[in-house]
Amino acid sequence: MASAMKPVLCVGCTVIDFVTISASFPKEDTDERCLNGNWQRGGNASNVCTVLRLLGLKVDFFGVLSKSDGFRVLLDDLQRRQIGVQHCPMSEKDPPFSSVIIAQDTGSRTIVHCNKNYPYVTWEDFRKIDLNKYGWVHFEARHPKETIKMIETVRQHNALHDTNIKISLDFETLYEKNLELCLSCDYVVFSKDLASRQGWETACSACSHLVSALTPSSVNIICPWGKEGASCVDSFHNYSDVPAHEPDSVVDTLGAGDSFMAGFIYATYVSQKNLPDAVDFANRVAGHKISDYGYDHIA
Ligand code: FRU
Repeated sequence: MASAMKPVLCVGCTVIDFVTISASFPKEDTDERCLNGNWQRGGNASNVCTVLRLLGLKVDFFGVLSKSDGFRVLLDDLQRRQIGVQHCPMSEKDPPFSSVIIAQDTGSRTIVHCNKNYPYVTWEDFRKIDLNKYGWVHFEARHPKETIKMIETVRQHNALHDTNIKISLDFETLYEKNLELCLSCDYVVFSKDLASRQGWETACSACSHLVSALTPSSVNIICPWGKEGASCVDSFHNYSDVPAHEPDSVVDTLGAGDSFMAGFIYATYVSQKNLPDAVDFANRVAGHKISDYGYDHIA
């Protein structure tokens, strides 16, 4: 069924993740040995593409790719997974990267990200895309000046062509700067890290603060809260708390939020689940993702 649906377009970043798996988090200024490590394709929208493909959906990525040698690994991986990159501009610059330490004893993942002002996709590039091809467009909440125009372009397309392309937003950084992006979306997934930085102590309180900030917009809001599950509130202000699905052991939490996002899109778009049921499915996908390394076991 998923393969018969129109593809999802994911707009955002792809980065190189240098992953080190360590028995425990290293002490500063020591010379230690780790257990394993690898390079892999990361970045929020890029990981969402990976998980959507594993769930069986067709997906295109729209983000700036790099011509640098190190980036080859990422291009090969995109191609191997049949993630479309036909709309992606190319940069001569070295791509962004993250140094990631996964500590086996606690299950933590520590990300140190380096972006060096790497270019982001523009509305000028976005407007060349034929939106008729897509059933859902997913955005990262970044570069609001460009992203707001891209979101508006999808809405105008829906109005002009009588289509119903859904719009989702992954909101992880810069609350004040990016808040306006939520207003024209159908679904916003708001990160626990950012909610905590706002001083919101539970998923439910994060939802109600966002409802106050965003009314009268009719956006559906979802706040995942790690092992405490997630809360969501629909466009009629019906709240739900949805418990987590914790695995027996937590192995790799890198990309758990992106897996949640992909699970949510899949359940809403393909399975047509209502909001709390879609969040429940997203919790399942995230719970399963963290039970092993990487993403391939999700399939
Ligand atoms: C995980 C992730 C990593 C990447 C980082 C970027 O959610 O997408 O793959 O290094 O976040 O912030």
